[in-house]
Amino acid sequence: MKPSLLSSARILLIVGGGVSAYKSLDLIRRLRERGAGVRVVMTAAAKQFVAPLSAGALSGAAVRDDLFNLADEAQMGHIELSRSADLIVVAPATADLLAKMAHGLANDLASTTLLATDKRVLVAPAMNVRMWLHPATQRNVAIMRGDGIAFVGPDDGDMACGEFGPGRMAEPLAIVAAVEEELRRPTAIPLPSASPSRDLLKDKRVVVTAGPTYEPIDPVRFIGNRSSGLQGYAIAQSAACVGADVTLVSGPTSLADPPGVRVVRVETARQMHEAVRAALPADIFVAAAAVADWRVENVGARKLKKSGTGAPTLSLTENPDILAEIAGSGTERPGVVVGFAAETENVLDNARAKLTRKGCDLVVANSVAEGSGTFGGAENEVYVVSNTGVETWPRMSKREVAEKLVALIASLDRGIR
Ligand code: C5P
Repeated sequence: MKPSLLSSARILLIVGGGVSAYKSLDLIRRLRERGAGVRVVMTAAAKQFVAPLSAGALSGAAVRDDLFNLADEAQMGHIELSRSADLIVVAPATADLLAKMAHGLANDLASTTLLATDKRVLVAPAMNVRMWLHPATQRNVAIMRGDGIAFVGPDDGDMACGEFGPGRMAEPLAIVAAVEEELRRPTAIPLPSASPSRDLLKDKRVVVTAGPTYEPIDPVRFIGNRSSGLQGYAIAQSAACVGADVTLVSGPTSLADPPGVRVVRVETARQMHEAVRAALPADIFVAAAAVADWRVENVGARKLKKSGTGAPTLSLTENPDILAEIAGSGTERPGVVVGFAAETENVLDNARAKLTRKGCDLVVANSVAEGSGTFGGAENEVYVVSNTGVETWPRMSKREVAEKLVALIASLDRGIR
């Protein structure tokens, strides 16, 4: 049998205040049985459900619960707590803890530690079914997934509150399995803001396109696509985090403007083309948008009506290829031009062909085949194709793809690669 990664792992377990906190005691035992070192942080509410003494006895170390305890901070401060862990596990994660994590609140030891970390975080939610299903909680979960945070559970079942449905904390052994899976994944990439590469793209002008385009058929209908814009927004934000002056030209999305980024909202490919030209010159151009190749030539001035003569015929005409134009713009060309290739088949071959045909320095290729979960999903699995070869990146959050890509672009910009 292969030795478990757990045998040398250091786990920081954050226990939130819920009935299922008692299961966390079993979780500590299971983790330690497998050789892991476990440190425990409890919220004030958690201490209403289980005694810190029990958690301390099982983990073999004093439980931390107070941000403002000088003696504790002198021994191991809240920053050091997260730094010395391989993985942070939040179990049970209450609706309140999820909301704090999603929005970056830091008003006790647990939330402050979670905000101060660049380590992987695994969350085991536990709450009343209606709290779990509430749009606010689901929004928070979506934000956290986008931040690269992993989830285990919640399970369906009878709940302490007498209701039935999703909300029960995953069983300790299921959490142990999820911990092992997380430990197997490549280590998290440090957040740009927390790494010495803060100035990686200082004062560089970066233009990013993102999202779909909508090509009108008539005043009511349009031809669009399933692009969510998440990947392009993450790239714009990552570039801004490392000092770049970023303009994001976005098609219609439901995403909020990334902080520190100039956002120009457009609908059609031609508007995107115009907005990109207006944002130039730039040092770096990243075309992450899913631009419609074709638009309707005969857009109806009024809503098309059903007639007795059958279906209307839409005549299509080609849209400008923004990427190809910018990449081929001679002396005006940005130093680094990056394209995306969303393919349903022959991903690599098509990406290589696109690199040459469009004249870019990098093509980031992914599969958008049914079941890939790329469109609208929080994760991406990409190949990065250049003239020197292909890099295969493991599945990771779109934010992590963005950070890695921005680091790669910066090295190209400096002529290092
Ligand atoms: O040719 P295809 O649409 O597959 O190419 C995808 C790449 O080209 C993406 O980077 C996309 O943003 C860019 N593109 C563009 N303008 C178009 C079509 C695609 O910038 N009209």
